Amino acid sequence: MNTMNIGIILGSTREGRVSPQVGEWVKGIADKRGDASYEIVDIAEFQLPFLGTTDGTEPGITAWNDKLASLDGFVFVVAEYNHSISGALKNALDFAREAWNNKAAGIVSYGSTGGARAAEHLRGIMGELMIADVRTHPTLSLFTDFENGSVLKPQDLHLDNVDMMLDQVVAWSGALKTLR
Ligand SMILES: Cc1cc2nc3c(=O)[nH]c(=O)nc-3n(C[C@H](O)[C@H](O)[C@H](O)COP(=O)(O)O)c2cc1C
Repeated sequence: MNTMNIGIILGSTREGRVSPQVGEWVKGIADKRGDASYEIVDIAEFQLPFLGTTDGTEPGITAWNDKLASLDGFVFVVAEYNHSISGALKNALDFAREAWNNKAAGIVSYGSTGGARAAEHLRGIMGELMIADVRTHPTLSLFTDFENGSVLKPQDLHLDNVDMMLDQVVAWSGALKTLR
């Protein structure tokens, strides 16, 4: 059996961010499934420059593309910044092309309205990158799924949604692998 490699991509890089908590929570649910290999992928670790401001020889750029190339599918952990995704996530998306193509992705978002507006922007970007985004989309509220907007205490109802989203990501990742 071909085991799918799924990257859980932390979509924010700021000091004090909550995305690592959300990513670890998703990974905890995912690892119980035993259907794929799941790993956290932290954009911050790659120290990507701002696209176009350097000669593009930073090792992090190659490492980022190599990491994405090793993955069959993605779960984007998406924070809402001014009704969209963070600049750091957009920059990281822009830094690869083929490594994104013909792969599947799900979204777990958070914000005052569950990060829904950011997630919908990301779906538009994924169309251009030929990433097939699945339907089920867990949305965490900064008011009811976090304490003080900073400590993740997700309501139980999200568990089924995360599992359903992962069902779809794993199935589509396997299907799309046949195209690559
Ligand atoms: C620059 C900036 C803009 C933001 N804009 C929004 C927004 O438009 N809608 C929203 O629901 N939350 C907004 N927030 C709140 C973030 O969703 C919240 O701080 C969240 O924790 C950010 O994710 P992070 O902690 O992983 O960086 C904004 C936060 C920042 C830093």
